[in-house]
Amino acid sequence: MSLFYRLAYALGFTPWEKATDTHGHLIGPLLHREEAGRDPPYGPALDLGCGAGYWAVELARRGWNVTGIDAVPKALGRARARARSAGVDVDFVRGDVTRLEDAGVGSGFRFLYDLGCFHGLGDDERAAMGRGVSAVAAPDATLLELVWTPARRGPLPRGASPEDLETAFAGWKVVDEDPLDAAALPGPLRGADPRCYRLRRVE
Ligand SMILES: C[S@@+](CC[C@H](N)C(=O)[O-])C[C@H]1O[C@@H](n2cnc3c(N)ncnc32)[C@H](O)[C@@H]1O
Repeated sequence: MSLFYRLAYALGFTPWEKATDTHGHLIGPLLHREEAGRDPPYGPALDLGCGAGYWAVELARRGWNVTGIDAVPKALGRARARARSAGVDVDFVRGDVTRLEDAGVGSGFRFLYDLGCFHGLGDDERAAMGRGVSAVAAPDATLLELVWTPARRGPLPRGASPEDLETAFAGWKVVDEDPLDAAALPGPLRGADPRCYRLRRVE
């Protein structure tokens, strides 16, 4: 999957960034939910598969102390430039979300979010990501996962169900489900039925 993304960024084929333009107004309230009743600074947040940093920069603007991790250097270069021009500090780290303990991202994250990375991983990678997330998350952390509905899609992400999430993130439970706008996706992918699942730790 990492080769796919490396090529995609090299070619400038990053359709998820266009979806961000249309999903953005739906993600905003999900961020607000994590902030409600508190004043900034909101604490440490980890963007898993941060790509070109749109959401990492947005969270930093809102008052989170953000770390973003991605495997593709070109994406991280764009993310750093975005943070510079927005005048915010974000710690962008090159690394593998399936080896979080080795990536040097730190720990104690109150909010972890993954907008489109997990659902393209294989089973073993998902389990490894789950263990890493549990190791770096604060005890009262929230995890937000944007995934497509499970289906065979060739080289494209196969999606994930709530059960898949609870299997990979052992000790976490899905507590909220928010559909996004499938119309934002290119025609053949409209059936992907993207949704955001919010997970909390139960043990
Ligand atoms: C669909 S893109 C979403 C990017 C970003 N979250 C956004 O919303 O614009 C998925 C991202 O996950 C990254 N990624 C995929 N597998 C990864 C892995 N094992 N470790 C780190 N990053 C990974 C890709 O490089 C890509 O930037």
